[in-house]
Amino acid sequence: RRKIIIDTDPGQDDAAALMLAFASGEELDILGITTVAGNVPLRLTSRNARIVCELCVRTDIPVYEGADRPIERPLVTAEHVHGKTGLDGAVLDEPTMQVMPQHAVDFIVETLRREPEGSVTLCTLGPLTNLAMAIRKAPDIAPRIRELVLMGGGFFEGGNITPAAEFNIYVDPQAADIVFRAGIPLVMMPLDVTHQLMTTKARVARLAALGTRPAKVMVDWLEFFERFDEEKYGSDGGPLHDPTVIAYLLRPELFSGRHCNVEIETTSELTVGMTVVDWWRVSNRTPNARVMRHVDADGFFDLLIERFARL
Ligand code: BDR
Ligand code: CA
Repeated sequence: RRKIIIDTDPGQDDAAALMLAFASGEELDILGITTVAGNVPLRLTSRNARIVCELCVRTDIPVYEGADRPIERPLVTAEHVHGKTGLDGAVLDEPTMQVMPQHAVDFIVETLRREPEGSVTLCTLGPLTNLAMAIRKAPDIAPRIRELVLMGGGFFEGGNITPAAEFNIYVDPQAADIVFRAGIPLVMMPLDVTHQLMTTKARVARLAALGTRPAKVMVDWLEFFERFDEEKYGSDGGPLHDPTVIAYLLRPELFSGRHCNVEIETTSELTVGMTVVDWWRVSNRTPNARVMRHVDADGFFDLLIERFARL
């Protein structure tokens, strides 16, 4: 079983990723969930992570609270997509599960130092603040990471929070810059992939047909989350970003891309947070990430629905 830490800012699509991981206990051993400010402030992302744990009766997984703001820039949130709570769409009880007393950054450092070198995979679904702070505090952890699979960035597809930048990278470009330069084996799931994964009515209906409580709540969350794209772009459903990270661990063959150099723009006001991907290898910069570009969308949703049936 692959040991993972999930760093997240739930978010309906983060919740879908957590639930996909919960349903995949044969392959994945979740050492902990760490929360970060992003879609909504930290107080809410920590609340939402615990709501998802309680919904799936996985209160055995420890939740650690991390950074409440980006390294340098003021926090930018995305209530316009996720709603006021970050998990609008379904009304659930406030969680009774507690967060762990340890800070997420310390948990990440300690875990990577304790576990055998090259055995822990990091999955990040939000801004990269916690991981960057951990690397800055303890640079010895970087070579101990087996792999980092992250949702973030966009290249041919452009940005979703500014014309140039994707939300997770835009919120904390300094953090992303630290992480992309750290020499960690990195797999990037950009908007180029996630925009191929639309939660169409037909797909959501398959989820609803499972009839379980977790599936029903997810349907309510997705229906709320989708309305942003449906109203703005007239699409059938919205893009399901964060579960790509977990799906990659389960079925890497669903995805294809290239190993190339990625640098993060941190200064230009116009393009700050842009992931500059050297797809055509026109620079002599060293490749530092496996950048995904295509996904088998039907295969992805088959996997998601098959796994949700286990919850
Ligand atoms: C990313 O931003 C957030 O709104 C989503 O949860 C996802 O992680 C997509 O740009
Ligand atoms: Ca997210």
